[in-house]
Amino acid sequence: MITVMTVCGTRPDAIKMAPVILEMQRHPERVHLVNVVTGQHRQMLDQVLSVFGLEPDYDLNIMQDRQSLTQVALRALERLEPVMAETKPDIVMVQGDTATTFLASLSAFYHKCSVGHLEAGLRTYQKYDPFPEEMMRRLTSALTDLHFAPTGAARDNLLKEGFAPERIYLTGNTVIDALLSVADRPYTFEDGRLASFLAEPGRMILVTAHRRENWGDRMASVCKAVRALVDRYDDARAVFPVHLNPVVREVVFPALEGHDRILLIDPPDYLPFVNLMKSAHLILTDSGGVQEEAPALGKPVLVLRQTTERPEAVTAGCALLVGTDEKRILSEASRLMDDEAAYRAMSQSANPYGDGQAARRIREAVFEHFEVS
Ligand code: UD1
Ligand code: UDP
Repeated sequence: MITVMTVCGTRPDAIKMAPVILEMQRHPERVHLVNVVTGQHRQMLDQVLSVFGLEPDYDLNIMQDRQSLTQVALRALERLEPVMAETKPDIVMVQGDTATTFLASLSAFYHKCSVGHLEAGLRTYQKYDPFPEEMMRRLTSALTDLHFAPTGAARDNLLKEGFAPERIYLTGNTVIDALLSVADRPYTFEDGRLASFLAEPGRMILVTAHRRENWGDRMASVCKAVRALVDRYDDARAVFPVHLNPVVREVVFPALEGHDRILLIDPPDYLPFVNLMKSAHLILTDSGGVQEEAPALGKPVLVLRQTTERPEAVTAGCALLVGTDEKRILSEASRLMDDEAAYRAMSQSANPYGDGQAARRIREAVFEHFEVS
């Protein structure tokens, strides 16, 4: 019997950890599972926990309005300490590149617990892009015992950096496990405003933007491009789920509210959001997770960033890195609106990020490492 602690804090942490928690729960005779949430996100995390039916054993409830990175770090470390001391996990499982991820791996290290890192090895090698995620992920790698690389490129990065090959497992990304577990469920939009907006004819463009390096002018420029795009095409309709971060909302609402073919909504739960992606003609996003999901659903995605640590979809031809310049976004999006062949070429569905079996491989690797039979 081993004690496995999973730690999530934000929306993407929970979506990507959920398949691993569910997989571990299938082996109660071998795994004592301790599900910790830092609550770095409150509403957006709780939505995901309820979609997957997950109950935290410990909820550290650290979120504050407009929290700084330092405040997140202080509260998370302070509140993780007694939980680590009490539960003494054999391994602490973290995912990705959020503050919660790095802080939980640091706390695990202080308590001499092994660390298992989901979505290990993604890199831009640009210290401040994405900020702070690039360094959160690299610092987590330094503290990790078992690296779960989602793709060959991620594994190669870790090998190049000198991590031991026998500690690196090529697993695929659990985001695809999560997506495939919900994507085919029949779904009707419950939000009346959204349902009637989607019932109108036209091509729907789904937009999300929240990254810190895009706060301010770059986000304003994205908003201008969205407005110009909808104005250019009579049949274009944009749905923009606006991140709950007030720094994002202060830019997006004034720039885009009041347009009859642009719908600004609070971030939908995961199930409606997946169905929004399925209904979209085109996706504009700076999200990491959405970049991974869109190709699996056969939706062309324009990535609103200067760099990406997820080059696989760009290489596969399903995604294009367009940055945040208004003119560039408008011209690339217009090309896809006008040119059917270009659109078709980008909407070949591909799964460069996984095959839906990542959680099983991760669980098997943990069992193998601890010689659990
Ligand atoms: C965080 C992650 C980022 C990830 C993103 C996913 C860090 C440093 N950043 O960024 O890597 O891509 O989550 O969405 O870990 N808020 C709410 N309710 C919520 C969530 C957020 O009100 O459910 C508001 C709060 O005012 C909070 C603010 O958003 O202070 C910022 O949240 P925070 O977790 O610090 O950063 P994100 O920008 O969301
Ligand atoms: N997502 C969601 N509702 C939304 C926007 C995104 O459920 O309104 C999901 C999306 O399907 C993906 C994850 O949240 O799985 C991505 O999270 P986010 O964009 O916040 O973070 P990132 O992936 O950039 O770290």
